[in-house]
Amino acid sequence: MSPTQAPHDTAGANGSHELSDDVASFYHLRHGEFQGRACQGTACFAARHLNPGRWAEAMGNDPRVYCLGECFASPAKGQIAQLPPVRVCSREGIVLGRIAAGGARSLSGALSQGRYRAIAQAVAGAPALVLDAVDKSGLRGRGGAGFPTGRKWRAVAQQPPGVKYVVANADEGDAGAYIDRYLMEDDPHTLIEGMILAGFAVGATRGFIYVRAEYPLAISILRSAVEDARAAGWLGPSVAGSKFAFELEVTAGHGSYVCGEETSLLRSIEGKRPEVMARPPYPTESGLFGRPTLVNNVETLVNVPWIVLHGAEAYAAFGFSRSRGTKALSLNSLFARPGLYEVEFGVTVRHIVEELGGGLRDGGTLKGVLIGGPIIGMIPPHLIDTPLGFDELAAIGAGVGHGGVVAFDQNTSIPELVQHVFSFGSYESCGKCTPCRSGSGRVERIFDRALDGRAGPAELKECRELVTALKLSSLCGHGTGLARFAESILKHYPAEIDPCFK
Ligand SMILES: Cc1cc2nc3c(=O)[nH]c(=O)nc-3n(C[C@H](O)[C@H](O)[C@H](O)COP(=O)(O)O)c2cc1C
Repeated sequence: MSPTQAPHDTAGANGSHELSDDVASFYHLRHGEFQGRACQGTACFAARHLNPGRWAEAMGNDPRVYCLGECFASPAKGQIAQLPPVRVCSREGIVLGRIAAGGARSLSGALSQGRYRAIAQAVAGAPALVLDAVDKSGLRGRGGAGFPTGRKWRAVAQQPPGVKYVVANADEGDAGAYIDRYLMEDDPHTLIEGMILAGFAVGATRGFIYVRAEYPLAISILRSAVEDARAAGWLGPSVAGSKFAFELEVTAGHGSYVCGEETSLLRSIEGKRPEVMARPPYPTESGLFGRPTLVNNVETLVNVPWIVLHGAEAYAAFGFSRSRGTKALSLNSLFARPGLYEVEFGVTVRHIVEELGGGLRDGGTLKGVLIGGPIIGMIPPHLIDTPLGFDELAAIGAGVGHGGVVAFDQNTSIPELVQHVFSFGSYESCGKCTPCRSGSGRVERIFDRALDGRAGPAELKECRELVTALKLSSLCGHGTGLARFAESILKHYPAEIDPCFK
């Protein structure tokens, strides 16, 4: 295959090609079994006492359903048509401003909100200008790892000319996160514009938006938005009348959490069994179909048109420390005021919990909060004065993650939460590396026994060893994230854990 030949139609996860049995058996939701089912994601676990019947129903689901993106109304079931409350709490609404103003699914609505102006401006200049703006803005990835976006873009741009791809990661599997869902459903053209700008900057001519199966409305809205953008000349052989060509397609997942991990996601688009791949090589060098590929999260890409229009300095004026700009957060149903919020980096977790969320509903007491979880460190009440920042939260063993904020109240038993998270981790492990495949299930079973009063100190010791193995030798963030979660629990909640291992 020549390097200029696009090999993209070999197969696909979009249902246009039948998957082999080997590949299909990897997925949980080959036939959309999640429709109308109750959810057993972590936000629903936290809120299970609000509707025990629904939680019992969720626990009976086979295949399991982990997160429908409705954590503002947990315990959730099925697709809720209306938007959650949306509040912009930063100086300007970079990410959620358009949705707060009513959103724009149609192209005409999007154009009236200023969409595609950044493209028209960019294609009149050089790709390097877009690249420099993103680099200097200080934007970091919103998908979990917080990697500097400009540095990743430059790595793809610097690869030799030939076929390159841009992929939007819209898998949003972290229970508690429903930001990308509403960005896609109510502001689809900003994501499309961000992808075109990314393609222009790095020299890619083709893009994929990989959307989780649990978001069928987002999939259909995006597909029509792509068609509208193409018909209007914003996509296709001559973007905005320029020499730049860019094509985009929407690919649907099949209910696997680990497909949010970038190497797994790329294999899923290729129609292969989506096990995680060891790095290097990174996708920036050898990604989709072996070609240089830029993978960015939806919210990351949604920031880009604003940066192009207003400049890097204006963007970097938001936020603090090494976390620039704003962050969308999704607050779960245990808050007095659940919903979507846009804040500047630098506000404290206390501000998010008490001022934005209004504290916990029904006067509940905060037992802990997971931001961007469940595979991330728990923030106990005594650490909630930590500011929202990539490095600041990492320093206390937590993280910004995806920005889903799940509060737990006095009704949550911490040992039961550990059992829940490891059950999720084990169910969703891709199985490629031993610590994650075997270790996550072993921790789950140890906590099963602990909850039945059948575990002793030796099992707690074994748990600690398994957590160390997960941390040191997992192939991807799924295993290391489980370890981070467990470490935070063992450190901050000994009063609840130790009595289970007597
Ligand atoms: C198990 C696992 C699941 C992930 N799920 C997502 C996801 O749903 N969405 C996402 O954007 N990134 C997810 N990531 C992170 C991606 O691997 C990748 O870092 C990200 O898409 C890069 O985009 P960004 O730089 O814009 O954040 C996941 C990582 C792991 C290890």
